[in-house]
Amino acid sequence: MKPIEEYVVSIPDFPEKGIIFRDITGILQDAEGLHLAIDLMEEKLAGLDFDVIVGPEARGFIFAMPLAYNLHKSLAAVRKKGKLPRETISVKYDLEYGTAEVEMHKDAVKPGQKVVIVDDLMATGGTLEAIVKMVEELGGEVVKIVCLMELAGLNGREKLDGYDVDAVISYP
Ligand code: PRP
Ligand code: ADE
Repeated sequence: MKPIEEYVVSIPDFPEKGIIFRDITGILQDAEGLHLAIDLMEEKLAGLDFDVIVGPEARGFIFAMPLAYNLHKSLAAVRKKGKLPRETISVKYDLEYGTAEVEMHKDAVKPGQKVVIVDDLMATGGTLEAIVKMVEELGGEVVKIVCLMELAGLNGREKLDGYDVDAVISYP
């Protein structure tokens, strides 16, 4: 079987000059690649005691959902502003390219719940930091953060100091 790195397609200068885009569609379009990605992320959660997986749209959902299903946990959705129909909390933040605002329903995480955050990729760490803020505002405890890929050179981990952050693939 091919190593997971070989399924990722790296595209220079997308969506802006200077950005190397790490494209997950090469993983998803291959049945072996898809299985491998989920299995490798699941290994990061082996033996961990937690209640709920929190993941952001759109690419985060792709990985958060099968992990929640396989591990028999619930899934709490983080969405871009304006998509959730009930009472929400929200956080604005900067991305590697552009800015964003994300939201969660106020009842998505219950006080005292142990939370694992799952996303496809950590770049600046802004998205994960925003999610941590919302989870904690709701009274949840972030016990682990798992990404398929990490762009280590953007120092996202500095924003997440003190949290257990793990990635399957790390790019310099
Ligand atoms: C991408 C990616 C992460 C985030 C990482 O999502 O899926 O969630 O950026 O960047 P950061 O570490 O600098 O915050 P994006 O907001 O582009 O949305 P998408 O999943 O809908 O494509
Ligand atoms: N999201 C933020 N930065 C990214 C990158 N370089 N590749 C893919 N997704 C991203």
